[in-house]
Amino acid sequence: MAKLLITGGAGFIGSHTCVVLLEAGYDLVVLDDFSNSSSRALDRVIALAGITPSESSAKRLVTVPGSINNSLVLEKVFREAIETGQPIEGVIHFAGLKAVGESVADPLRYWHVNVGGSISLINVMAAFSCHTLVFSSSATLYGYPDQVPIPETAPIQPINPYGHSKAAVERLLNDLAASAPGQWRIACLRYFNPVGAHASGRIGEDPLGIPNNLFPFVSQVAVGRRERLQIFGGDWSTPDGTCVRDYIHVMDLAEGHKAALDCLLTEAPQLLTLNLGSGRGISVLEVVNAFGQACGQPVPHTIVDRRPGDAAITVADPSEALRRLGWSTRRSLDDICRDGWAWQSANPAGYGQRG
Ligand code: UD1
Repeated sequence: MAKLLITGGAGFIGSHTCVVLLEAGYDLVVLDDFSNSSSRALDRVIALAGITPSESSAKRLVTVPGSINNSLVLEKVFREAIETGQPIEGVIHFAGLKAVGESVADPLRYWHVNVGGSISLINVMAAFSCHTLVFSSSATLYGYPDQVPIPETAPIQPINPYGHSKAAVERLLNDLAASAPGQWRIACLRYFNPVGAHASGRIGEDPLGIPNNLFPFVSQVAVGRRERLQIFGGDWSTPDGTCVRDYIHVMDLAEGHKAALDCLLTEAPQLLTLNLGSGRGISVLEVVNAFGQACGQPVPHTIVDRRPGDAAITVADPSEALRRLGWSTRRSLDDICRDGWAWQSANPAGYGQRG
Protein backbone atom coordinates (compact mmCIF):
# COMPACT_ATOMS: atom_id res chain seq x y z
CA MET A 1 0.00 0.00 0.00
CA ALA A 2 1.13 3.53 -0.71
CA LYS A 3 3.15 5.57 1.75
CA LEU A 4 1.94 9.12 2.45
CA LEU A 5 3.43 12.15 4.15
CA ILE A 6 0.96 13.86 6.48
CA THR A 7 2.11 17.32 7.55
CA GLY A 8 0.41 18.49 10.73
CA GLY A 9 -0.82 14.94 11.29
CA ALA A 10 -0.98 15.31 15.08
CA GLY A 11 -3.46 18.21 14.88
CA PHE A 12 -7.22 18.10 15.12
CA ILE A 13 -8.13 17.28 11.52
CA GLY A 14 -4.83 15.55 10.80
CA SER A 15 -5.13 13.02 13.64
CA HIS A 16 -8.66 11.99 12.65
CA THR A 17 -7.58 11.65 9.02
CA CYS A 18 -4.63 9.46 10.06
CA VAL A 19 -7.05 7.00 11.68
CA VAL A 20 -9.09 6.75 8.47
CA LEU A 21 -5.98 6.36 6.29
CA LEU A 22 -4.36 3.73 8.54
CA GLU A 23 -7.61 1.76 8.58
CA ALA A 24 -7.63 1.93 4.79
CA GLY A 25 -4.12 0.40 4.74
CA TYR A 26 -1.95 3.42 3.93
CA ASP A 27 1.46 3.72 5.60
CA LEU A 28 2.09 7.16 7.05
CA VAL A 29 4.94 9.49 7.88
CA VAL A 30 3.65 12.30 10.12
CA LEU A 31 5.64 15.52 10.16
CA ASP A 32 4.56 17.85 12.96
CA ASP A 33 6.31 20.55 14.95
CA PHE A 34 3.87 20.05 17.86
CA SER A 35 3.48 23.82 18.25
CA ASN A 36 -0.28 23.34 18.59
CA SER A 37 -0.63 19.59 19.00
CA SER A 38 0.41 16.70 21.21
CA SER A 39 2.30 13.51 20.39
CA ARG A 40 -0.26 11.76 22.61
CA ALA A 41 -2.76 12.20 19.79
CA LEU A 42 -0.59 10.00 17.58
CA ASP A 43 -0.25 7.30 20.28
CA ARG A 44 -4.02 7.18 20.40
CA VAL A 45 -4.33 7.20 16.60
CA ILE A 46 -2.17 4.06 16.48
CA ALA A 47 -4.30 2.37 19.12
CA LEU A 48 -7.58 3.39 17.45
CA ALA A 49 -6.44 2.08 14.09
CA GLY A 50 -5.82 -1.29 15.76
CA ILE A 51 -2.13 -1.37 14.92
CA THR A 52 -0.42 -3.99 17.06
CA PRO A 53 3.26 -4.11 17.93
CA SER A 54 3.59 -7.23 15.75
CA GLU A 55 2.42 -5.15 12.79
CA SER A 56 5.21 -2.77 13.67
CA SER A 57 3.70 0.60 14.43
CA ALA A 58 7.04 2.07 13.35
CA LYS A 59 6.34 0.94 9.80
CA ARG A 60 2.68 1.97 9.65
CA LEU A 61 3.09 5.39 11.27
CA VAL A 62 6.46 7.07 11.59
CA THR A 63 6.56 10.36 13.48
CA VAL A 64 9.07 13.02 12.47
CA PRO A 65 9.20 16.11 14.70
CA GLY A 66 9.91 19.13 12.54
CA SER A 67 8.64 22.12 10.64
CA ILE A 68 7.51 22.39 7.02
CA ASN A 69 9.79 25.42 6.82
CA ASN A 70 12.79 23.14 7.32
CA SER A 71 13.76 21.82 3.88
CA LEU A 72 16.45 19.60 5.32
CA VAL A 73 13.94 17.67 7.42
CA LEU A 74 11.59 17.39 4.46
CA GLU A 75 14.37 16.11 2.20
CA LYS A 76 15.34 13.55 4.81
CA VAL A 77 11.77 12.25 4.98
CA PHE A 78 11.58 11.76 1.22
CA ARG A 79 15.09 10.28 0.99
CA GLU A 80 14.59 7.80 3.83
CA ALA A 81 11.29 6.66 2.34
CA ILE A 82 13.11 5.83 -0.92
CA GLU A 83 15.81 4.01 1.01
CA THR A 84 13.22 1.79 2.68
CA GLY A 85 11.94 0.86 -0.79
CA GLN A 86 8.64 2.67 -0.25
CA PRO A 87 8.79 6.22 -1.63
CA ILE A 88 6.28 8.86 -0.56
CA GLU A 89 3.51 8.72 -3.16
CA GLY A 90 1.39 11.58 -1.91
CA VAL A 91 1.20 14.33 0.67
CA ILE A 92 -1.70 15.60 2.73
CA HIS A 93 -0.70 19.04 3.89
CA PHE A 94 -2.49 20.05 7.11
CA ALA A 95 0.36 21.92 8.79
CA GLY A 96 -0.32 25.61 9.26
CA LEU A 97 -1.56 28.36 11.52
CA LYS A 98 -5.29 29.00 11.72
CA ALA A 99 -6.25 31.71 14.21
CA VAL A 100 -7.82 34.67 12.45
CA GLY A 101 -7.13 37.26 15.18
CA GLU A 102 -3.52 36.14 15.52
CA SER A 103 -3.07 36.48 11.76
CA VAL A 104 -4.20 40.11 11.93
CA ALA A 105 -1.69 40.81 14.74
CA ASP A 106 1.20 38.90 13.16
CA PRO A 107 0.69 38.59 9.39
CA LEU A 108 4.35 37.92 8.67
CA ARG A 109 4.24 34.74 10.72
CA TYR A 110 1.14 33.58 8.85
CA TRP A 111 2.75 34.22 5.46
CA HIS A 112 5.97 32.57 6.62
CA VAL A 113 4.37 29.36 7.91
CA ASN A 114 1.32 28.99 5.68
CA VAL A 115 2.75 30.31 2.41
CA GLY A 116 6.53 29.94 2.94
CA GLY A 117 6.05 26.50 4.52
CA SER A 118 3.90 25.34 1.61
CA ILE A 119 6.50 26.57 -0.89
CA SER A 120 9.23 24.74 1.00
CA LEU A 121 7.15 21.54 0.98
CA ILE A 122 6.23 21.79 -2.71
CA ASN A 123 9.86 22.45 -3.69
CA VAL A 124 10.97 19.25 -1.97
CA MET A 125 8.05 17.29 -3.43
CA ALA A 126 9.04 18.42 -6.92
CA ALA A 127 12.69 17.53 -6.30
CA PHE A 128 11.64 13.99 -5.37
CA SER A 129 9.09 13.71 -8.21
CA CYS A 130 6.14 13.48 -5.84
CA HIS A 131 3.27 15.29 -7.56
CA THR A 132 0.23 14.29 -5.50
CA LEU A 133 -0.94 16.82 -2.92
CA VAL A 134 -4.08 17.37 -0.87
CA PHE A 135 -4.09 20.88 0.55
CA SER A 136 -6.07 22.12 3.57
CA SER A 137 -7.81 25.18 2.26
CA SER A 138 -10.69 26.96 3.95
CA ALA A 139 -14.10 28.43 3.32
CA THR A 140 -12.60 31.52 4.91
CA LEU A 141 -11.42 32.57 1.46
CA TYR A 142 -15.02 33.35 0.45
CA GLY A 143 -14.99 36.25 2.95
CA TYR A 144 -18.49 37.72 3.19
CA PRO A 145 -20.18 35.47 0.63
CA ASP A 146 -22.39 37.02 -2.04
CA GLN A 147 -24.57 33.90 -2.24
CA VAL A 148 -25.40 30.91 -0.01
CA PRO A 149 -25.07 27.98 -0.37
CA ILE A 150 -21.60 28.89 -1.65
CA PRO A 151 -20.35 27.13 -4.81
CA GLU A 152 -16.62 26.76 -5.55
CA THR A 153 -17.04 29.30 -8.37
CA ALA A 154 -17.86 32.08 -5.85
CA PRO A 155 -15.37 34.95 -5.73
CA ILE A 156 -12.22 34.55 -3.63
CA GLN A 157 -12.30 37.59 -1.35
CA PRO A 158 -10.52 36.93 1.95
CA ILE A 159 -10.93 39.49 4.70
CA ASN A 160 -7.94 38.69 6.92
CA PRO A 161 -4.29 37.58 6.58
CA TYR A 162 -5.17 33.97 7.43
CA GLY A 163 -7.62 33.90 4.53
CA HIS A 164 -5.10 35.61 2.24
CA SER A 165 -2.48 32.98 3.10
CA LYS A 166 -4.86 30.16 2.11
CA ALA A 167 -5.85 31.98 -1.08
CA ALA A 168 -2.18 32.54 -1.96
CA VAL A 169 -1.37 28.83 -1.69
CA GLU A 170 -4.39 27.93 -3.81
CA ARG A 171 -3.20 30.47 -6.42
CA LEU A 172 0.29 28.95 -6.37
CA LEU A 173 -1.09 25.43 -6.80
CA ASN A 174 -3.19 26.53 -9.77
CA ASP A 175 -0.16 28.18 -11.39
CA LEU A 176 1.92 25.08 -10.75
CA ALA A 177 -0.66 22.73 -12.27
CA ALA A 178 -0.95 24.99 -15.33
CA SER A 179 2.82 25.08 -15.77
CA ALA A 180 3.12 21.33 -16.28
CA PRO A 181 -0.10 19.89 -17.69
CA GLY A 182 -0.50 16.20 -16.94
CA GLN A 183 1.96 16.22 -14.07
CA TRP A 184 0.40 17.37 -10.81
CA ARG A 185 -2.46 15.72 -8.95
CA ILE A 186 -3.76 18.36 -6.54
CA ALA A 187 -6.85 18.77 -4.41
CA CYS A 188 -7.61 22.05 -2.63
CA LEU A 189 -10.19 21.19 0.00
CA ARG A 190 -12.12 24.14 1.34
CA TYR A 191 -13.30 23.18 4.80
CA PHE A 192 -16.34 24.77 6.35
CA ASN A 193 -16.55 24.46 10.17
CA PRO A 194 -14.87 21.24 11.37
CA VAL A 195 -16.21 20.09 14.75
CA GLY A 196 -16.92 16.95 16.81
CA ALA A 197 -14.47 14.16 17.54
CA HIS A 198 -13.79 10.48 16.90
CA ALA A 199 -16.73 8.49 18.27
CA SER A 200 -14.42 6.72 20.76
CA GLY A 201 -13.74 10.02 22.54
CA ARG A 202 -10.02 9.19 22.47
CA ILE A 203 -8.99 11.97 20.07
CA GLY A 204 -10.52 15.40 19.55
CA GLU A 205 -9.88 19.13 19.36
CA ASP A 206 -7.51 20.56 21.99
CA PRO A 207 -7.03 24.26 21.30
CA LEU A 208 -4.21 26.20 22.90
CA GLY A 209 -5.49 28.77 25.42
CA ILE A 210 -8.95 30.29 25.20
CA PRO A 211 -10.78 28.79 22.22
CA ASN A 212 -11.60 31.22 19.41
CA ASN A 213 -14.09 28.89 17.83
CA LEU A 214 -17.61 28.11 18.96
CA PHE A 215 -17.56 24.34 19.35
CA PRO A 216 -14.50 23.96 21.61
CA PHE A 217 -15.73 26.91 23.67
CA VAL A 218 -19.15 25.31 24.18
CA SER A 219 -17.46 22.00 25.08
CA GLN A 220 -15.24 23.68 27.67
CA VAL A 221 -18.20 25.48 29.25
CA ALA A 222 -20.08 22.17 29.41
CA VAL A 223 -17.18 20.44 31.15
CA GLY A 224 -16.78 23.30 33.64
CA ARG A 225 -13.51 24.72 32.35
CA ARG A 226 -15.20 28.02 31.44
CA GLU A 227 -18.10 29.72 33.06
CA ARG A 228 -20.33 30.86 30.24
CA LEU A 229 -20.44 31.17 26.47
CA GLN A 230 -20.78 34.58 24.88
CA ILE A 231 -22.87 34.40 21.73
CA PHE A 232 -21.66 37.06 19.32
CA GLY A 233 -24.84 38.77 18.17
CA GLY A 234 -28.52 37.92 18.44
CA ASP A 235 -29.71 40.42 15.86
CA TRP A 236 -28.46 38.90 12.62
CA SER A 237 -30.97 38.46 9.82
CA THR A 238 -31.23 34.72 10.39
CA PRO A 239 -34.17 32.64 11.66
CA ASP A 240 -33.21 32.92 15.38
CA GLY A 241 -30.96 36.00 15.14
CA THR A 242 -27.68 34.09 15.66
CA CYS A 243 -25.16 33.33 12.91
CA VAL A 244 -25.57 30.28 10.71
CA ARG A 245 -22.65 28.00 9.79
CA ASP A 246 -22.02 24.71 8.07
CA TYR A 247 -20.64 22.48 10.83
CA ILE A 248 -18.98 19.33 9.55
CA HIS A 249 -18.14 16.32 11.71
CA VAL A 250 -14.37 15.87 11.70
CA MET A 251 -14.76 12.18 10.77
CA ASP A 252 -16.83 13.14 7.71
CA LEU A 253 -14.03 15.57 6.87
CA ALA A 254 -11.39 12.86 7.40
CA GLU A 255 -13.28 10.56 5.04
CA GLY A 256 -13.42 13.40 2.52
CA HIS A 257 -9.60 13.53 2.54
CA LYS A 258 -9.35 9.82 1.85
CA ALA A 259 -11.87 10.13 -0.96
CA ALA A 260 -9.90 13.03 -2.50
CA LEU A 261 -6.61 11.17 -2.21
CA ASP A 262 -8.00 7.97 -3.73
CA CYS A 263 -9.42 10.01 -6.59
CA LEU A 264 -6.10 11.77 -7.25
CA LEU A 265 -4.16 8.50 -7.18
CA THR A 266 -6.50 6.69 -9.58
CA GLU A 267 -7.67 9.34 -12.04
CA ALA A 268 -5.57 11.24 -14.60
CA PRO A 269 -3.56 14.18 -13.22
CA GLN A 270 -5.85 17.07 -12.37
CA LEU A 271 -6.45 19.92 -9.97
CA LEU A 272 -9.61 19.61 -7.90
CA THR A 273 -11.04 22.46 -5.86
CA LEU A 274 -13.82 21.27 -3.60
CA ASN A 275 -15.95 22.53 -0.75
CA LEU A 276 -16.11 20.07 2.14
CA GLY A 277 -19.25 20.89 4.05
CA SER A 278 -22.65 19.40 4.73
CA GLY A 279 -24.79 21.93 2.88
CA ARG A 280 -26.82 22.29 6.09
CA GLY A 281 -27.01 25.59 7.94
CA ILE A 282 -27.04 25.47 11.75
CA SER A 283 -27.35 28.49 14.05
CA VAL A 284 -25.23 29.18 17.13
CA LEU A 285 -28.28 28.63 19.34
CA GLU A 286 -28.99 25.29 17.67
CA VAL A 287 -25.43 24.18 18.46
CA VAL A 288 -25.76 25.32 22.07
CA ASN A 289 -29.09 23.54 22.53
CA ALA A 290 -27.96 20.32 20.84
CA PHE A 291 -24.82 20.27 22.98
CA GLY A 292 -26.94 20.76 26.09
CA GLN A 293 -28.96 17.67 25.11
CA ALA A 294 -25.76 15.67 24.54
CA CYS A 295 -24.16 16.58 27.87
CA GLY A 296 -27.38 16.40 29.86
CA GLN A 297 -27.53 20.00 31.08
CA PRO A 298 -28.05 23.42 29.52
CA VAL A 299 -24.91 25.28 28.43
CA PRO A 300 -24.89 28.71 30.15
CA HIS A 301 -24.74 31.53 27.61
CA THR A 302 -25.27 35.25 27.16
CA ILE A 303 -25.92 37.11 23.95
CA VAL A 304 -23.39 39.94 23.47
CA ASP A 305 -22.37 42.25 20.63
CA ARG A 306 -21.44 40.95 17.21
CA ARG A 307 -17.82 39.89 16.61
CA PRO A 308 -16.10 41.97 13.92
CA GLY A 309 -15.41 39.97 10.77
CA ASP A 310 -18.31 37.52 11.11
CA ALA A 311 -20.70 36.84 8.22
CA ALA A 312 -24.37 36.17 9.00
CA ILE A 313 -24.57 32.91 7.06
CA THR A 314 -21.97 30.65 5.47
CA VAL A 315 -23.14 27.32 4.11
CA ALA A 316 -21.41 25.12 1.54
CA ASP A 317 -22.78 23.93 -1.72
CA PRO A 318 -21.17 20.48 -1.41
CA SER A 319 -22.57 19.07 -4.67
CA GLU A 320 -19.23 19.17 -6.53
CA ALA A 321 -17.55 16.94 -3.91
CA LEU A 322 -20.39 14.46 -4.28
CA ARG A 323 -20.08 14.52 -8.08
CA ARG A 324 -16.28 14.22 -8.20
CA LEU A 325 -15.58 12.05 -5.16
CA GLY A 326 -18.87 10.34 -4.43
CA TRP A 327 -18.46 11.85 -0.96
CA SER A 328 -20.99 13.60 1.25
CA THR A 329 -21.40 14.03 5.00
CA ARG A 330 -23.16 11.23 6.90
CA ARG A 331 -23.20 12.51 10.46
CA SER A 332 -25.83 14.73 12.11
CA LEU A 333 -25.58 17.62 14.57
CA ASP A 334 -26.56 15.16 17.31
CA ASP A 335 -23.65 12.88 16.29
CA ILE A 336 -21.33 15.90 16.38
CA CYS A 337 -22.41 16.86 19.89
CA ARG A 338 -22.44 13.28 21.23
CA ASP A 339 -18.90 12.60 19.96
CA GLY A 340 -17.62 16.04 20.94
CA TRP A 341 -18.92 15.48 24.45
CA ALA A 342 -17.42 11.96 24.59
CA TRP A 343 -14.02 13.55 23.91
CA GLN A 344 -14.35 16.58 26.20
CA SER A 345 -15.88 14.71 29.16
CA ALA A 346 -13.22 11.98 29.04
CA ASN A 347 -10.41 14.52 28.51
CA PRO A 348 -11.41 17.70 30.36
CA ALA A 349 -7.89 19.10 29.99
CA GLY A 350 -7.43 17.82 26.43
CA TYR A 351 -4.24 15.84 25.93
CA GLY A 352 -2.75 17.63 28.92
CA GLN A 353 0.47 18.44 27.11
CA ARG A 354 1.92 19.97 23.96
CA GLY A 355 4.74 18.29 22.13
C1 UD1 B 1 -13.69 30.88 12.05
C2 UD1 B 1 -12.87 31.86 11.28
C3 UD1 B 1 -12.57 31.26 9.93
C4 UD1 B 1 -11.85 29.94 10.10
C5 UD1 B 1 -12.65 29.03 11.00
C6 UD1 B 1 -11.82 27.81 11.34
C7 UD1 B 1 -13.42 34.10 12.08
C8 UD1 B 1 -14.11 35.37 11.79
N1 UD1 B 1 -13.57 33.13 11.17
O1 UD1 B 1 -14.89 30.66 11.36
O2 UD1 B 1 -11.78 32.15 9.18
O3 UD1 B 1 -11.66 29.34 8.86
O4 UD1 B 1 -13.00 29.66 12.22
O5 UD1 B 1 -12.59 26.88 12.01
O6 UD1 B 1 -12.76 33.96 13.09
N2 UD1 B 1 -19.25 32.28 18.21
C9 UD1 B 1 -19.84 32.73 19.36
N3 UD1 B 1 -19.12 32.69 20.53
C10 UD1 B 1 -17.84 32.22 20.59
C11 UD1 B 1 -17.25 31.74 19.39
C12 UD1 B 1 -17.97 31.80 18.22
O7 UD1 B 1 -20.99 33.18 19.36
O8 UD1 B 1 -17.25 32.21 21.66
C13 UD1 B 1 -20.03 32.31 16.97
C14 UD1 B 1 -19.38 33.16 15.88
O9 UD1 B 1 -19.80 34.49 15.97
C15 UD1 B 1 -19.91 32.47 14.63
C16 UD1 B 1 -20.07 31.00 15.04
O10 UD1 B 1 -20.09 31.00 16.46
O11 UD1 B 1 -21.16 32.96 14.32
C17 UD1 B 1 -18.93 30.14 14.58
O12 UD1 B 1 -17.73 30.74 14.98
P1 UD1 B 1 -16.32 30.01 14.82
O13 UD1 B 1 -16.39 28.66 15.40
O14 UD1 B 1 -15.28 30.94 15.32
O15 UD1 B 1 -16.19 29.80 13.25
P2 UD1 B 1 -16.25 30.87 12.05
O16 UD1 B 1 -16.33 32.25 12.55
O17 UD1 B 1 -17.32 30.43 11.13
